[in-house]
Amino acid sequence: MSMKVISIINLKGGVGKTISSVNIAHILSTIHNKKVLIVDNDKQGNTSRLFGVKDATKSIADIMVESCINVKTVIKPTIYNDLDIIPANMDLLEANLAVITDDEIEGKASILKNALDQVKNEYDYCIIDNPPDINLSVINALVASNDVLIPIRIDQFALDGMKDLIEQINNVETARLKGCFITQFSKNKMNLSKLEELRKSSNYPILNTVIRRTVKVEESTFENLPLLEFSKRCNASRDYVALVEECLKL
Ligand SMILES: Nc1ncnc2c1ncn2[C@@H]1O[C@H](COP(=O)(O)OP(=O)(O)O)[C@@H](O)[C@H]1O
Ligand SMILES: [Mg+2]
Repeated sequence: MSMKVISIINLKGGVGKTISSVNIAHILSTIHNKKVLIVDNDKQGNTSRLFGVKDATKSIADIMVESCINVKTVIKPTIYNDLDIIPANMDLLEANLAVITDDEIEGKASILKNALDQVKNEYDYCIIDNPPDINLSVINALVASNDVLIPIRIDQFALDGMKDLIEQINNVETARLKGCFITQFSKNKMNLSKLEELRKSSNYPILNTVIRRTVKVEESTFENLPLLEFSKRCNASRDYVALVEECLKL
């Protein structure tokens, strides 16, 4: 087994990074019987809250600051089979500052990669949920990743920041942009034509699967449940299942 690491990234907030990370990870483990590690790399800890580990004693902040940490002491099980998590909370803010200002630390961009390498034979996939930023944490995620997925919401500013993000991805030799995918899509004339435009004009690969907007998604977050556990048949559930299938074939 050699763990494949996939980062879900966009510089913008509210585009569906967390929802996508959680559901891609959950679908890989439940439908595809993969062993999956989800990494919460956002100090807001939304993914951690969803899995009930927001207040775990150890978090990704400890990985950033403790050079010889045994990563297994940070990994927590979730209530789902074959789905474990590295939690995050506000400690990550201070941890990143500590790393940035410490001149003694070498290889500041590969801290997460080195930690994840410790468990690369224990998981099939690692999904990293990122903050809406390009900070030390995100650079660490990119260096640790084989693939990058970018969720995009269609609006006037859909592609803002994409150039910078793609530049950062291209800077990291080992990370490959697998593709962008549309989230929170409402099917109407305007959006369909915007989507068409985006597919034609974009310099970036846009996956075929589109994640539709449904109120079930928001409801699932209030119940702290992955979509398949909350509403197996809603549009977004089916779309995420299709998205994972598409990605596995790429
Ligand atoms: N397909 C969808 N349909 C409806 N609401 C969605 C969908 N995807 C995400 N949302 C909602 O959009 C908001 C932002 O999603 P989130 O995954 O937290 O974004 P990010 O992590 O990029 O900030 C959340 O309130 C979430 O419930
Ligand atoms: Mg998020």
